[in-house]
Amino acid sequence: MDVTKAIHKRRSTRSFKDKKPDWRDILDCLDTTRYSPMAGGYFTLNFLIIDEKEKIKEIAKWSEQDWIKEAPYVVLFITDAGIATNVYKERGELYSHQQAGGAIQTFMLSLIEKGLSSCWVGHFNEDKIKFLFKIPNSRKIEAIIPVGYEKEKPKTRKIQAELYNRVNYHEWGNKRMHRIEKVEHYYPEGYKNSKI
Ligand SMILES: Cc1cc2nc3c(=O)[nH]c(=O)nc-3n(C[C@H](O)[C@H](O)[C@H](O)COP(=O)(O)O)c2cc1C
Repeated sequence: MDVTKAIHKRRSTRSFKDKKPDWRDILDCLDTTRYSPMAGGYFTLNFLIIDEKEKIKEIAKWSEQDWIKEAPYVVLFITDAGIATNVYKERGELYSHQQAGGAIQTFMLSLIEKGLSSCWVGHFNEDKIKFLFKIPNSRKIEAIIPVGYEKEKPKTRKIQAELYNRVNYHEWGNKRMHRIEKVEHYYPEGYKNSKI
């Protein structure tokens, strides 16, 4: 699938069909994350794939988001920041989070190609979820991603950000790519002194 098409097609899905995806498709999509940019090429992520209904209910509870219960799969993105901080000191922490974000987007776009949908969940009780799944304290849960087949089409969205207000050129605050020079009118040969 065309990348731009996948980017436009991706929506946050919060309602899933009962049909269970093939877990190997999810694994394939996690495989694509290995191609995401990582500072120095150090891969700082681990994943946890969950399909037990009772466990998914617990995730919904500790995320205060009931809709997650419907998801046939939930994938956790887990960072080991130590890998990056060993090399990049305090910048390593930032890099770990940034590259997790990039990898999450890569994963979500790959799911689109498989006909699957997902939602990035950032609101959850990290301590409780770590305890539930025996995740070491040294790790950071970057996001919880429920995955499945979309049940209802999401409402059409209005993209908030106007590009014009966001892009600066040459220096902060300059909204024009080039200064507009005084434009000399072009008169074709022979019309030089005629009134147009
Ligand atoms: C860092 C982050 C955290 C988010 N956390 C949640 C969340 O906890 N629950 C939820 O339903 N959506 C969450 N979202 C999804 C956004 O609400 C969603 O991307 C946004 O409303 C735009 O809709 P779209 O994804 O369909 O374009 C999160 C997205 C990001 C990037």
